[in-house]
Amino acid sequence: MPTPHISAPKGAFAKTVLMPGDPLRAKYIAETFLENAELVTSVRNILGYTGTYKGKKISVMGSGMGQPSIGIYSYELYTEYDVENIIRIGSCGSYQKDVNIRDIIIAQGACSESNFVHQYGLPGMFAPIADWSLLRRAVDIADQQGKKVLVGNILSSDVFYNATPDALHKWAAMGVLAVEMEAAALYMNAAKLGKKALCILTVSDSLITHESTSVEERETTFTEMMEIALEFGE
Ligand code: HPA
Repeated sequence: MPTPHISAPKGAFAKTVLMPGDPLRAKYIAETFLENAELVTSVRNILGYTGTYKGKKISVMGSGMGQPSIGIYSYELYTEYDVENIIRIGSCGSYQKDVNIRDIIIAQGACSESNFVHQYGLPGMFAPIADWSLLRRAVDIADQQGKKVLVGNILSSDVFYNATPDALHKWAAMGVLAVEMEAAALYMNAAKLGKKALCILTVSDSLITHESTSVEERETTFTEMMEIALEFGE
């Protein structure tokens, strides 16, 4: 059954869905890396495709920006389409001087200042974490491919243009590696629904050195990250 935000029929998605923020990235991935990719949904131009990679079934769909957006799409994929694994593939801004542009980060945990967690009414703090089996497999794949990855904590912020400029230094002092805007909500949906999630990021800019990657560098580092994520087809 189509959902309010996804027009695909039941069974249209693979067990594993890769989610870049940008729907045109999903299109690019489908056209560049997948065999027999089929467009399965395009509500609000949030494009989703299913195809195969090295003969194994995998889907790719945009998440939009921010936790409310990935919160909606991941919830519907998990609950209405029997999706088991969602792997966010995105970019992030470095919070540490030794986390460099072009680095690949696997988000072991995702802090947030968002209200998303409050819906659960928990009597304390919840720690949104990656699924261990997906995390371990991603690190193994990166090792086999000879790629260095950083594994650690990130911040999923609701604010891109932050009016409190020293907030980043407080997170950085707690060892948070980088900032993006989606992983915590994805990890919480997975936890609540008994599903699996992972977030793999490339560092596109640094909030410490103010360097940013060129268009060509983004392309190369994006491909390196994709080569890890695409191996999750089944
Ligand atoms: N902030 C939030 N998300 C991001 C950033 C950033 O600086 N860079 C890439 N994604």
